[in-house]
Amino acid sequence: MRQAGVDCLVLERADRDYVEGRVRAGILEQITVDLMARLGLDARLRREGLTHTGTNIAYGDELFRIDMAGLTEGRTVTVYGQQEVMKDLFDSAEQSELPIVFAARDVRLHGLDTAHPCVTWRKDGVDHAVDCDFIAGCDGSHGVSRGSIPADARTSFERVYPFGWMGVIADVPPCAEELIYCNHERGFALASMRSRNRSRYYIQCAADEPLEAWPDERFWDELCLRLGPVTARGVVRGPASEKSIAPLRSFVSEPMRYGRLFLAGDAAHIVPPTGAKGLNLAAADVILLSEALSDFYRTGSETALEAYSQRALARVWKAERFSWWFTSLTHRFPQMDAFDRRIQTAELAYMRTSPSAQAAFAENYVGLPLE
Ligand code: DHB
Repeated sequence: MRQAGVDCLVLERADRDYVEGRVRAGILEQITVDLMARLGLDARLRREGLTHTGTNIAYGDELFRIDMAGLTEGRTVTVYGQQEVMKDLFDSAEQSELPIVFAARDVRLHGLDTAHPCVTWRKDGVDHAVDCDFIAGCDGSHGVSRGSIPADARTSFERVYPFGWMGVIADVPPCAEELIYCNHERGFALASMRSRNRSRYYIQCAADEPLEAWPDERFWDELCLRLGPVTARGVVRGPASEKSIAPLRSFVSEPMRYGRLFLAGDAAHIVPPTGAKGLNLAAADVILLSEALSDFYRTGSETALEAYSQRALARVWKAERFSWWFTSLTHRFPQMDAFDRRIQTAELAYMRTSPSAQAAFAENYVGLPLE
């Protein structure tokens, strides 16, 4: 918006250290990388990000690679932590004097269905207010934006999965060059990374699993068991610098607009982490929203703003579908019977040998085009 000559103010509930220190996703689609480049924020990303041209899926004794680049005319994903993206955004905001108010408390939105909405907040005990043309609600699923839309003006769609992911970060080299998604009878496991010296691993667990019951050694033992003996040989153990459990949920709130408030990212939709779509969906939303807002300021026409919600949701639902499907394919569900298990194995075996099944996976994994 600043590049389009529009004044902006960013309100952030947390402080900068918290946002930069919070471990989040780590896989950027090409669309997200291109956005960083367009904003001139990709210098460190180019230097430190790892380009992955393929990804691996394991089940039983099998492990197969999907050549994403080969199946999508060269598209890839980039390993670069969301925390790093946030650092780059904050640094650039500082340089261009784009105001970010950190630790903004008690944020409230007013007059959303008028032409002159207003946002109020409190910082350090002092009340503030700003009048604006539009509000972009980019404040996540627990933010104030979605809840500011009257309940009768929105519809929610939701799936809650009967498990969570226990994630560990350790400053040790990853077990493989690329990611490995693993369907094991004891539950899903994922070998990921943040850099050549920092590993990110996940195992499926009960959503209410007590973390205290999982000292590092137990985590490493369970991870190695699920990854299988060949992959486990490459696992380097080390102290976990972060260990946490995240629930898995699919959620969409429609529409993504109410009057002068436009929702983007987790404020409007949540995906389970399988496939790493969350941050990338948010980036796609803000591309569409910034285009529509720029169009309004350039031409005075609201046509693009009126199309925003439908345009964003069309792509959101495809990513919801992919994340739900990839979760269903790779996880152990409590109510699964022998038939369900055979169907899962058959689908994995089909993917292992079918170039068209792999191509369908690859085009979703690298990110569907913005339409
Ligand atoms: C991460 C990577 C993934 O590919 C994924 O599907 C989920 C999470 C990660 O490294 O955090």
